Amino acid sequence: MSTLRTPRPAGYKHPFLEAALGRAPERPPVWIMRQAGRYLPDYRRVRKSFPSFLEFCRTPDAVAEVTVQPVDQIGVDAAILFSDILVLLPPMGLNLEFVEGEGPVVHNPARDAATIAAMPGGKDGDDINAELAYVFEGIRRTQQNLQGYVPLIGFAGGPFTVASYMVEGGSSKELARLKALMFSDAKTYHLLLTKLSNLTAAYLIEQARSGANALTLMDSWAGYLSPADYRAFVLPHTKSVVDRVKAACPGVPVIHYANGAPTLLNDFVSLGVNVVGLDWRVELPDAFKAHPAQVFQGNLDPTFLFSTPEKITERVKQMKQVVGSRPHVWNLGHGILPQTPVENARAFVDAVHGAL
Ligand code: CP3
Repeated sequence: MSTLRTPRPAGYKHPFLEAALGRAPERPPVWIMRQAGRYLPDYRRVRKSFPSFLEFCRTPDAVAEVTVQPVDQIGVDAAILFSDILVLLPPMGLNLEFVEGEGPVVHNPARDAATIAAMPGGKDGDDINAELAYVFEGIRRTQQNLQGYVPLIGFAGGPFTVASYMVEGGSSKELARLKALMFSDAKTYHLLLTKLSNLTAAYLIEQARSGANALTLMDSWAGYLSPADYRAFVLPHTKSVVDRVKAACPGVPVIHYANGAPTLLNDFVSLGVNVVGLDWRVELPDAFKAHPAQVFQGNLDPTFLFSTPEKITERVKQMKQVVGSRPHVWNLGHGILPQTPVENARAFVDAVHGAL
């Protein structure tokens, strides 16, 4: 099932951009983290024609095709570029593979000072954008597909989260190796994070120059740190990315997302981003009360979409009472899970768009 993309009238104010910029949108906007993904049969069909996930990410026409699938099939108000936060790793000298059923694996993780010192990113941070040209081309082709129907979100991982994969060598339960580096050799840790910040700022700025209308920084694993350690070891790096992106791309809203980090909410607000993403461990009224001027994004538990369309509609109605007339970017509290029934994802979007 797909919606027909009727052209937008001249001067149309996209609800997603209005809300992200703190203005009252014409209707509540919604997008879903990981919205172009395995829960969609059409995604799985395109994915099957590529030998690997990275090959898929490196093919701009396929990227443009799957990026718009959730726009047409579930009716979200923004597209997010199909890619991954880990595409920075190969240009930084790391041998990254997405192993079927296992996730990302780095065959030569960056664990010692000499390896980290030899990595790019030390100076202007622009030194890997040439190798990421396929991402920028994917943005341009997606925009040709979208023709202004909805805004396109570009993204990158937060330096801490990306560093976790580089040092751990893949997904990890404790981030023990990264944190050991942080606590035992802070100089090397900060060098890695500084390089990642430089490269990430340049990468996001180039995404905006290629046509991304908004940018998300996904620091999914920031919640692994105590508030004091987050402030000492992550916040200054994230802030340096945000400051450079905001200076270079005025008018392009920046969203910050972290998972499992309710204790860091004040710190995320202090980053000065347009939108702070929340997972379901934060109660919306608490966040709204503590930060009346901050636009938030979220925060339905992704597993709620395993219930029924009726229950989803009911839950969204309750959430709407809380949101009231505040500008809010509707989303799940983390990525949509592959087992989610498509009709339930659609019910979520329809409920956000529907009357109270
Ligand atoms: O949101 C979107 O639809 C855009 C695409 C997108 C992907 N990954 C595609 C993807 C985005 C924004 C990401 C971000 C990402 N990637 C994050 C941050 C957000 C979050 O979920 O916390 C992280 C931590 C990653 C790293 C990553 N990529 C892991 C751990 C895995 C394996 C686990 C899994 O879900 O399979 C991936 C692979 C990945 N990235 C897939 C997709 C659609 C699945 C691979 C496939 O389809 O073969």
